[in-house]
Amino acid sequence: MQHDEETALPPPDAESAQHSQRAVAYIEARIAVAGGSISFAEFMHHALYAPGLGYYAAGTTKFGVDGDFITAPEVSEMFGRVLARQCAEILAATDDGSILEFGAGSGKLAVDILSALQELDALPDRYDIIEVSADLTQRQQALLRERVPQLVSRVRWLTELPGRHDGVMIANEVLDALPVERFLRTETGVRQLRVVADDGRFRMRDFAAPDHLLAAVERIEADLGERLPPEYVSEVSPAMSGWLNDVAAALQHGTIFLLDYGVSRREYYAAERNGGWLRCHFRHQAHDDPLQLVGIQDVTTWVDFTAVAEAAVAGGLDVVGYAPQAQFLLGGGLDIELREFTSLPTKTQIELSGQVKILTLPDEMGENFKCMALRRGTVPVPSAFRHADRTHTL
Ligand SMILES: C[S@@+](CC[C@H](N)C(=O)[O-])C[C@H]1O[C@@H](n2cnc3c(N)ncnc32)[C@H](O)[C@@H]1O
Repeated sequence: MQHDEETALPPPDAESAQHSQRAVAYIEARIAVAGGSISFAEFMHHALYAPGLGYYAAGTTKFGVDGDFITAPEVSEMFGRVLARQCAEILAATDDGSILEFGAGSGKLAVDILSALQELDALPDRYDIIEVSADLTQRQQALLRERVPQLVSRVRWLTELPGRHDGVMIANEVLDALPVERFLRTETGVRQLRVVADDGRFRMRDFAAPDHLLAAVERIEADLGERLPPEYVSEVSPAMSGWLNDVAAALQHGTIFLLDYGVSRREYYAAERNGGWLRCHFRHQAHDDPLQLVGIQDVTTWVDFTAVAEAAVAGGLDVVGYAPQAQFLLGGGLDIELREFTSLPTKTQIELSGQVKILTLPDEMGENFKCMALRRGTVPVPSAFRHADRTHTL
C-alpha cells in the first residue's frame, strides 16, 4: 500500500466505534479463555479475520480513497497490465496453465489482468481466487460481473488450495496481512510479546518465548552472525513459512509472483530498526499501535524476503527473481503499455503520469515494494527480471 503520512488519527464514526467495541469484546473473551494472554499473532489474526468482526472479515470499504489505504492495483491498471504480460509468458510455457490469485482484495487486479490477457489473446481457461474474507469475496464477484461480464465464467472462488496447480500464482500484499509473532531480545534470552486485557485496554506484556519462537530468533541471529541488541523488538512470521509451504506443494509447473513491501533479512533486523516493521492504517493515516481501533484498522507487517526465499527453497522452488517494483514494472513492459501515451487526451496523460509516478518513484511504491518470483519446473524466467534481479542481496 502507498505509505501515508503519520499525523493525528481521525476519530472513528459512531458505527465504526461500536463495531470496534464488539471486536474488542470478542478478543477479550479469547484472552479470558486462554488464561489471561494471547500471542500477538493470535491477536492480529482475530483483529483482521474474526468472522464478521475482523478488519478484513467485516463490510467496510478498505481499498481506495474512501477506505484506509491504496494498493498498487487500485492506483493504476498499469500494474495489472504489466503483470498480465508476465503471466502470458508463463502460461505460454505450460500445458493448460491457469492463474490462481490469493487475497484478491476488491477484485481490481483480477479485472485488469483478465482484460489485458484478453487483449493479448492469451486468456487462460480459468482464473481462480482464494480469499479468506467472505465479505471481500462478494465484493470481488460484484466487481468482476460489472467490469468483465464476458470473462466472469472463467473465474472460480476456491475455498482451499487445489491438489495441483500449473501456470501462475499471484499474491499482491497478502504476505503482509499474515499474522506475525512479536519478540523482545534481552541480555539473557528471548521473550514473546503477548496481549493482555488490562482495565478495559489491551496491553503488550512479555512472557517466556515458546520453543518455535526461540528457534526462529536463533536462526535469524545465526544467519546475521551476531546477537540482536538487548531490548530489541521485532517480528517473525511463522504463518508466512506455513502458507508458502502449502502453496509450494500445490505448484507443480509454473511461477509464483509475490508482491509486497519488504526488505532483505539484514535490513529487516538492522540494529537501528529496533521496534520492528508493524504498521497500522486507518483512513489513510499510518501509525504503529495495533492495540487501538481494533477491527476497524488494517494491521500489517513488512516482509523479510530472505525468509520468503528460504521457505520457498525448503518447499522445492527456485527463486528466479527479486526486484523493486519500479524495476519489475519497467523491465516487464510498462514502456510498451505507455506506447500510445502521447496520443492520449491531455487530461488522461496527466492522470496516467500521476499513477505511474506513484507506482515507480522511490519515495512512493517504487523501491520499498518488491516483486519476488518463485518457480517449479522448466518455465522461463520472467522477462521483467532479466536486467534487474537482486536475488543476490537476500
Ligand atoms: C492488503 S489486502 C490486499 C488485497 C489485494 N491483493 C490488493 O492488492 O489490493 C490482503 C488480502 O489478503 C487476503 N488474505 C489474507 N490472508 C489470506 C490467505 N491466507 N489466503 C488468501 N487470502 C488471504 C485478505 O482477505 C485481503 O483480501
